Amino acid sequence: MFFPYAMKRGKYPNAQVRSMIPIDFSGKIALVTGVGDNESFAWFIAKALQAAGAKIVLACHPRMVGIVESILTRPQDADSRKLPHVDGELKVEKILPCDVSYDTMADVPEAVRNDRRYAKFPEYSIQGTVEAVGREFGGIDIVIHSVAFSREITKFAKEVSRSAYLEAISVSAYSLTALLRAAEPYMENRPGGASAVGLTYLGGERVVPYYGGGMSTAKAALQIDCKQLAQNLGPKNIRVNLISAGPYASRAARSIRPGEFEKSIEYAASKSPLPRPITPEEVANATVFLCSPLASAVTGQILYVDCGYNIMA
Ligand SMILES: NC(=O)c1ccc[n+]([C@@H]2O[C@H](COP(=O)([O-])OP(=O)(O)OC[C@H]3O[C@@H](n4cnc5c(N)ncnc54)[C@H](O)[C@@H]3O)[C@@H](O)[C@H]2O)c1
Repeated sequence: MFFPYAMKRGKYPNAQVRSMIPIDFSGKIALVTGVGDNESFAWFIAKALQAAGAKIVLACHPRMVGIVESILTRPQDADSRKLPHVDGELKVEKILPCDVSYDTMADVPEAVRNDRRYAKFPEYSIQGTVEAVGREFGGIDIVIHSVAFSREITKFAKEVSRSAYLEAISVSAYSLTALLRAAEPYMENRPGGASAVGLTYLGGERVVPYYGGGMSTAKAALQIDCKQLAQNLGPKNIRVNLISAGPYASRAARSIRPGEFEKSIEYAASKSPLPRPITPEEVANATVFLCSPLASAVTGQILYVDCGYNIMA
């Protein structure tokens, strides 16, 4: 696919090579939320961004920080750290604790502050996390939003409680707005512009009955927020896009239909124009594209990485 490769094979013998296709994130800093383990979409996204040269800071849920630290160092996880396309393995600049429920530490309730899994961290709000990265690295070029949560995910829409519904929207949708508001001063007018990419699902626009617990509403909110934010931040050359991924058996997805999520994957694969499941590497590659200069006029869009499932009647 790369032009010089095609040339090498003699396909374009008269063409002049000026450079490789321009995906080079050297010197760029990417703040990646949503790594919970080495199956998370965000894990594959972090690896692909690093393979293109970016420096990576992970912002992980405070309860996941220890797990992610061990995945980044344990010999038995070495294979999962291998970068795609290039030699080397994932090495992050930092792992910061961040619970995207909280804009500032003043929002954190007493019970959470005193929880032993939180109490060891002095700072885990969105604002504190973003400022720590922006100040240390002098700016932020890429923000990845890959978080979602509903405590009543296994309940149908008609059964969901008000508190779980509002929490799902707060964690899974509003957090993008809060993240980008905090990051705006560090993302504005970066060389070549800055880019935010979030993850959504078709259940935010069509009825997928098992996608309950307020999550379908949260994804619908996330999708219009992406467009609003693209408009609000465009003058600062900050682009905002979403990837609508097909079903993939991550930890969060398995909790939607415990023990049965494979059925959703098989169903989507059987109905898709490309009759197979998606891979997390494909989501990561599309994220790299959206963050790259190749997508410099692409903002406020939802890119479906779902083997075409969404086009089917
Ligand atoms: N797996 C799928 O089938 C699928 C399909 C389409 C979209 N998505 C979306 O992809 C994104 C990533 O999910 P995934 O499938 O990689 O699962 P995952 O479980 O690996 O990732 C979800 C992440 O959200 C984090 N999180 C939850 N609540 C949080 C909070 N309050 N603060 C900070 N982090 C919090 C978790 O720690 C976890 O790391 C989500 O937005 C999800 O809705 C997933």
